[in-house]
Amino acid sequence: MNSPRRVLVTGGAGFIGSSVVRHLLEDPDVEVLNFDSLTYAANLLSLQCCADNPHYRFQRGDICDLEAVQQAFTEFHPTHILHLAAESHVDRSLTGPEAFIKTNVLGTGVMLQVARDYFDRLSSEERENFRFLHVSTDEVFGSLGDEGQFQPDTPYDPSSPYSASKAGSDHLVRAWGRSFGLPVLITNCSNNYGPCQFPEKLIPLMILNAKEGIKLPVYGKGDNVRDWLYVEDHARAIWSVAQNGKVGGTYLVGGEEEHTNLDVVETICNILDEEIPHAEIKDRKSLIEFVTDRPGHDFRYAIDSSATCKELGWAPQESFETGLRRTIRWYLENDAWLESIRSGAYREWMEENYAWR
Ligand code: NAD
Ligand code: DAU
Repeated sequence: MNSPRRVLVTGGAGFIGSSVVRHLLEDPDVEVLNFDSLTYAANLLSLQCCADNPHYRFQRGDICDLEAVQQAFTEFHPTHILHLAAESHVDRSLTGPEAFIKTNVLGTGVMLQVARDYFDRLSSEERENFRFLHVSTDEVFGSLGDEGQFQPDTPYDPSSPYSASKAGSDHLVRAWGRSFGLPVLITNCSNNYGPCQFPEKLIPLMILNAKEGIKLPVYGKGDNVRDWLYVEDHARAIWSVAQNGKVGGTYLVGGEEEHTNLDVVETICNILDEEIPHAEIKDRKSLIEFVTDRPGHDFRYAIDSSATCKELGWAPQESFETGLRRTIRWYLENDAWLESIRSGAYREWMEENYAWR
């Protein structure tokens, strides 16, 4: 039997966080505290399967609130911190960067301050095992041309307020490791997709719009490239790094699945045409509209995760083809989850952007 691990997950009600929580609770030796302020992107229905699990608890709290974070640490007494809470959507960061600076930079600063005080009070044995894993993004490295992949030592060159705020948080985490001896690790991951993602991001937005016969806005020419990773593969990578990664290490995580945006949208249209033909629209690709490009739009992301795979024995299990089909099926079958967002931020956002009712 493994020694019990007590994992404090921030942002556990979000897209990736909820997948991480579900993954952690598969292990009976793990207890989880999900600390989340429940922004528009959160959905507790994503964790309905865990609600009655005696190893799971939820605390609504803001990572910028020092006292609330201190209380969570003191009462839960964690062995591991998996820090995912963040503002995560690039387009929102272009119209309202303040929340990104506050949560991603200042909030991470609060997490580090509290973790350091807590760490200093642990016994030497507890200190041996304690880990603070910061979940970050490949967007901190900026944009690639047609060739090459991000490496762990690629210089930071963020383009958007979102990626700049994540870059700032990565620097803070490394500084707390180097200056104060906090046992930190960082993961930088590529684009995730899968169940429970708020449908403002490319894949779920296109699935739901295409399903209903609403326009499919593709930025610029649709030739930007992203590397796609199924969210459950990311969740396994995060926990593997937290348990077995080297303190102070940077771990790149990706799917080796590069696709242009147009390719992704067309594939979604083809799968939906096949699975649920639309009464009036024979070919959903006719819904595609090329719209004004995102300002500062990074052209291409590609990430070399071979060092992570080699050191930790981690590898993605889902190909883009199988993962996308699973994801589409999930959005077609989970009406209760979709209903729960239709009444809130998603409705407001769709009404604003698509004159949707
Ligand atoms: P998300 O937007 O779906 O979820 C973010 C969660 O954080 C939500 O539950 C929200 O309520 C919570 N949160 C936000 N502000 C908070 C605050 N001040 N205090 C407490 N909780 C707060 O995000 P996601 O896509 O699941 O991303 C999770 C993490 O992974 C982020 O740090 C993001 O930068 C990183 N990441 C995301 C991707 C991706 O493709 N989505 C890829 C690589 C890295
Ligand atoms: O690379 C990791 C990052 O991936 C994460 O750190 C971010 O949290 C996550 O949001 C994601 O960022 P992107 O900007 O790449 O994801 P998004 O889904 O917003 O867009 C994917 C691509 O699709 C991007 O090139 C912009 C384009 N796009 C997006 C939307 C929402 C469109 O063409 N049309 C759209 O309507």
